[in-house]
Amino acid sequence: MSLLTWVDLVYLLAAIGFILALKGLSSPKFARQGNMLGAGAATLAIAMTFTIPSVRHAGSRLILMVVAMIIGTAIAVPAARRVKMTAMPQMVAIFNGVGGGAAALVSMTAFLILTSHDSFTGKPAVYKIVEVILGILIGCVSFSGSAIAFIKLQELITGRPITYPAQQVINAFVGIAIVGLAVATVLTANVALLVVMSVLALVLGVIFVLPIGGADVPVLISLLNSFTGLAVAASGFSLGNNLLIIAGTLVGASGILLTRMMSKAMGRSLANVLFSAFGSVVTASGGADGAGADARPVKVGTPEDIGVLMAYARKVVIIPGYGLAVAQAQHTARELADLLTERGVEVFYAIHPVAGRMPGHMNVLLAEANVPYDELKEMDEANPELATADVALVVGANDTVNPAANNTPGSPIYGMPIIHADLAQHIVFLKRSMRPGFAGIDNELLYDPKTTMLFGDAKDTLTKLVAAVKSA
Ligand code: TAP
Repeated sequence: MSLLTWVDLVYLLAAIGFILALKGLSSPKFARQGNMLGAGAATLAIAMTFTIPSVRHAGSRLILMVVAMIIGTAIAVPAARRVKMTAMPQMVAIFNGVGGGAAALVSMTAFLILTSHDSFTGKPAVYKIVEVILGILIGCVSFSGSAIAFIKLQELITGRPITYPAQQVINAFVGIAIVGLAVATVLTANVALLVVMSVLALVLGVIFVLPIGGADVPVLISLLNSFTGLAVAASGFSLGNNLLIIAGTLVGASGILLTRMMSKAMGRSLANVLFSAFGSVVTASGGADGAGADARPVKVGTPEDIGVLMAYARKVVIIPGYGLAVAQAQHTARELADLLTERGVEVFYAIHPVAGRMPGHMNVLLAEANVPYDELKEMDEANPELATADVALVVGANDTVNPAANNTPGSPIYGMPIIHADLAQHIVFLKRSMRPGFAGIDNELLYDPKTTMLFGDAKDTLTKLVAAVKSA
């Protein structure tokens, strides 16, 4: 068997590893193993690439490759280790951006080789130029789009949608110009045209992302991630590398599936996420004190009352949201749950698919606090149980329990599936004020006669509840 057959066989093994890794990553229980398997498969594939004769005999360029890998590892490993959970979306954005940029650079090199005078013994085949151009275009959009996504999430510029007159028309105009230049480049194989097209693709990435609100950016990153996958697959075609084609296609497909799932769980279409400048208008204006936006009274409780209520309950459902992440209260939430369980109360966490600001946000937070997986119930599994719950403890969640999603046509969240905290006998909200959540709209549930508010930072109020349950 020739060496290249061996390389392809190992690539096949690596591809199977990637698929199993994705399978593992789809459940909190096996996510860690899935991650390790994916990393192992990638290491195997990279090692095998170094046995290919053209790479092995690359001379001084081989040294450059190894130096680049060392620099990349030296930057990425400490960055990934140190990143805070709340800064994870921007880290993913930047990693995704460099992936797209790298794929674009590989395709540009392929274009130069394809059209260079040495190997230019006639016009290169059209399909070859098309795959190279696709790699460059998609990679450039993904690179600059991810860079703006990073800047927004890092709050280096406003997270609000940036809009200006005739924005969509300008975007469409740039898009059409790119298509025209791409066709001209295919026909002429002209490097200057390619450069102008690449610059416009970078511009498109920027202007495409500017009108997207900061909190919608995680959905966008998932879409850009899918773009990067496609750019990598295109560069795989240019280089004749089967593994790049498979890995890129897997990233492209899983990215688009995740994007669709996130939009669906938010009750919005992908077009609405990308083009509606959602989040530019806040439609509720709750005060920072106990009174609602329209000064309607709400019931405010004390930690002692609520502690007693939970200590003598049969079933308590904890519904975590973005505020749990902001307050970093996951350990205290677990302490409270453990304490209640010790007293014989049935406790579980109801997890909404888009609670927080990134996919799996609550799962990751609670896993960090070593909450057992069987105490986490996905929305569909949790909802039937809420009707028999004595207390729904809503910790820093808002939109994901807002009944307007069911009963207010015209509301920005109408159609989004919610966790039915409203079905529980008592509802307790832990939040700092009456201010709305991400969607910027009032939540009628805060005014429900069954609802008690406990104002304050979630970590602080949960700590008080722990003390109250202990002395109940
Ligand atoms: P939100 O509706 O955003 O509500 C979070 C609540 O937490 C706020 O009302 C806030 O009220 C409270 N809060 C903030 N900091 C707090 C703290 N330190 N202590 C206590 N409370 C605190 O959150 P959610 O229910 O998790 O819903 C998520 C929203 O984000 C959905 O609209 C979803 O569509 C959107 N979204 C999600 C994702 C993903 S993938 N998860 C991506 C993009 C957008 P106070 O200010 O009064 O404290």
